Amino acid sequence: MSSPAEDHSATRLHWSQIHGWFGWRDLQEEAAATFAEGSVFVEVGCYLGRSLCSLAEVVSESNREFNVVGVDFCRGSGPEGTAARDAHAAAVADGGGTLAGQLHRNIIACGYADRVHLLVSPSPAAATLFADGSLAWVHLDARHGYESVLADIDGWLPKVAPGGWLSGDDYNEQWWPGVVAAVRDRLPDAHECSTRQWRWVKPPDASR
Ligand SMILES: C[S@@+](CC[C@H](N)C(=O)[O-])C[C@H]1O[C@@H](n2cnc3c(N)ncnc32)[C@H](O)[C@@H]1O
Repeated sequence: MSSPAEDHSATRLHWSQIHGWFGWRDLQEEAAATFAEGSVFVEVGCYLGRSLCSLAEVVSESNREFNVVGVDFCRGSGPEGTAARDAHAAAVADGGGTLAGQLHRNIIACGYADRVHLLVSPSPAAATLFADGSLAWVHLDARHGYESVLADIDGWLPKVAPGGWLSGDDYNEQWWPGVVAAVRDRLPDAHECSTRQWRWVKPPDASR
């Protein structure tokens, strides 16, 4: 039986109605079909919860048990990309310097308050809370600058389990050269997949 927080008769919001940037639903579905029940999926960079609530929906519809963790420091990424656009500024200003309230309200309104664990924390500091090799899938969608993506990869990679995935959004040379350069420099055997996503699969015999 679903908990009150996942009672969809009371649901007022669907993830597709949340403002944001998200195009890797196929990876979410593949993860729910691939990994063992009880696995932990982490999404780094949640903004208002569009992709996170989609992941919660995929997990819910899979009828298999997974743990869904969202990590965001809720301050916005600041100006970034070749257009130097500050895409999160309005949401941060609306919340008086944090978008955490709106993110959490959206998770509640979608009916996933009991399913999603939200960590309001900087990345990769949040990674230190997890044991090495404990995470089936970490998806990176926080700040897209070269140094930030390098720091995220370095922080989260040891946490991925052997056979698990480290992946990320906006693998696009024209708009997000920092993402592409950081992935190429750190994970030369990562592959482009889905729609402008990159993915690296940790070798099953990896010690780190
Ligand atoms: C591109 S948005 C995420 C979009 C989201 N996946 C969606 O579905 O719309 C990037 C998010 O990363 C967060 N972020 C940026 N740098 C961060 C950092 N160092 N630690 C944690 N979160 C960060 C921002 O606050 C912002 O909410």
